[in-house]
Amino acid sequence: MTNEQTPQIGGTAGGQDLARTEGTVPARFEDPGLPEHRLRQSDVDPAAAKRAERQVVAMFAISILGTIGFLLAYFLVRPGETVASMRISNIALGISLFLAMFGIGAAAVHWAKTLMSDHERQEARHPQRSDAATREAALDVLRQGAEDSGIGRRGVLKGAVVSAVALAPLTVAVPLIGEVGGDWNVSKFRHTLWERGKRLARDPSGEPIRAADVTIGSVFHVIPENLREEGGSHWIEEKAKAVVLMVRMDPRDLKETPERAGWSYDGIVAYSKICTHVGCPVALYEQQTHHLLCPCHQSTFDMSDGAKVVFGPAARPLPQLPITVDDDGYLIAQDDFDEPIGPSYWERLR
Ligand code: FES
Repeated sequence: MTNEQTPQIGGTAGGQDLARTEGTVPARFEDPGLPEHRLRQSDVDPAAAKRAERQVVAMFAISILGTIGFLLAYFLVRPGETVASMRISNIALGISLFLAMFGIGAAAVHWAKTLMSDHERQEARHPQRSDAATREAALDVLRQGAEDSGIGRRGVLKGAVVSAVALAPLTVAVPLIGEVGGDWNVSKFRHTLWERGKRLARDPSGEPIRAADVTIGSVFHVIPENLREEGGSHWIEEKAKAVVLMVRMDPRDLKETPERAGWSYDGIVAYSKICTHVGCPVALYEQQTHHLLCPCHQSTFDMSDGAKVVFGPAARPLPQLPITVDDDGYLIAQDDFDEPIGPSYWERLR
């Protein structure tokens, strides 16, 4: 279609009315208005309205069952020491939480579409700030809406919505209250399983790593050797604290401060994998720039320069694990991290 054939909606240019007629194309599109209003089944058939009400009640009931299921899962399906038990716990919590929230949402939508009033109105645009009379009218509409929802007349529905909405916050409140008596001793973040002489091992196999096997440009996900045995029943928490990302670069690319001279081994550096922003695992290493990117909020750390923050919301560098090699050529820690791992707020307690 050429410009000449394009229908013009209206307006002027150079004093000339652009609106025009080309063949059968109208000069302006007329407002077609609202299509004819069609009554819903529930508007004309009391049985259909009753059916819709039962469906809404059923959805709220699903929400109530979801909340109860969440509480049961929270107290009865506790995560144990195995990954499988954590998965089962997470799945049980996730499914029940989904039902608790979805039930309320679906019920609200179905209620609005089938039982609330279905008047169609047209309103001209007006200034955003309403005058007092309009506000009063708005309040009347809200009151009318409450009336239209039929909540006063439908006792079972009223009970269902009140129960579902009142119970749903328990899915958040109970776990939070459960944590009140938990272990809030944040000093446990100061120390990890790393200690002098502890070998660096591959995650997840636990196989110790020889320095000779770490080629320039390679990236290793690292855990302390014998993590499972030494972590005991808390080995997963210990792993979460101790995980390390290790890379090797040309030693000439490394910028080491005098205090940290000797913390790396022939271009191999190891840093905590826990982002100092809010604790996501950082693992996206860019070989050419030596930048390490956190996928959560894009904090970027320079592995060649003390893991300093070069971009993003993280407030401090990643803690460094000082390393060296033992007599057999295996990489070992010289000590624990020099500062608490994880988000910056732990620093306040230092
Ligand atoms: S957790 Fe890493 S940038 Fe936010």
